[in-house]
Amino acid sequence: MDRFDGIEFHDHHPEANDFLDVVLRGLTDEPKWIPPKFFYDKRGSELFERITRLSEYYATRTEIAILRDCAGEVAGLVGRDSLLIEYGSGSSNKVGILLDALQGDVTYVAIDISRQHLVESCERLAESYPRLEVIAVCADYSTPFPLPAPRRGMPQNKLVFFPGSTIGNFSPDQAVSFLANTARQIGTGGSLLIGVDLKKDEKLLHAAYNDSEQVTAAFNLNLLERINQEFAADFDLSAFSHRAFYNTERGRIEMHIVSLKPQVVSLNGASIRFVKSETIHTENSYKFSIGEFQHLAKQSGFEPVKVWTDPQDLFSLHYLTAR
Ligand code: AVJ
Repeated sequence: MDRFDGIEFHDHHPEANDFLDVVLRGLTDEPKWIPPKFFYDKRGSELFERITRLSEYYATRTEIAILRDCAGEVAGLVGRDSLLIEYGSGSSNKVGILLDALQGDVTYVAIDISRQHLVESCERLAESYPRLEVIAVCADYSTPFPLPAPRRGMPQNKLVFFPGSTIGNFSPDQAVSFLANTARQIGTGGSLLIGVDLKKDEKLLHAAYNDSEQVTAAFNLNLLERINQEFAADFDLSAFSHRAFYNTERGRIEMHIVSLKPQVVSLNGASIRFVKSETIHTENSYKFSIGEFQHLAKQSGFEPVKVWTDPQDLFSLHYLTAR
């Protein structure tokens, strides 16, 4: 454990060997794939921040508006003195709304795969909330890891905050096992506040992942840039393009990187062949109805308590407790 200015830091080295292994597996598979958690290097995290401010990307601002409206009620449900755990805390922009509402002593455990982003935002938070105990954990939260203990002992009231509809990146099976792990981690009576993107008009969805400034395209293609830098690969970025579409049958946005011509890319001694129009599948972003998500949550050991939405039903925020 390291101590930075006002924060405690645990490093689980989430991608020590992982990235190269996974990329080699994904790019030699058919169809090709790379999991979305690798988007978030420094540049990728910056591009994602820009996405959240795009006019077409309704999700972030809508979720923040819902959170502002329900934070007081959430704080009442959680109770005094709590442990607040955030999965994928990123720049920790949203958690301040909860921190302003929660009563009594709070320990905040921020978990993120992007080390620099994590440490910087936790330091900033510790400065703005001098009474808050802040614990930063650099880890891949999609695999279980032990909860660090607060200095004053483990509080009864535990809340996991999982905003942004990142749950949509998991397949339905993965989502169930992830939520079941979460329920186990917080124990019976612990609660989960989770942001879930709703099914909606396909045109709105399409625009959100095909923005006019092409920030989403840059975010997607940054994966290749990252592979070039980290593994001395020779992806020619001008020979690939971004594609995102709504798969109605599966209820998800799919993002792909399309090879614009037949080509061979070298990566760590391996030759990766592409035929023209072949794609690398880089992300799924599942969209749910309220009932669909509650069904998934019940299968995972959670009881739905309350759900809030915006007036246009673009986004939902669910409060559930672990059985
Ligand atoms: C962070 C997974 C919720 O699926 O909308 C945004 C990521 N990808 N634009 C999403 C993303 C392209 C985002 N999540």
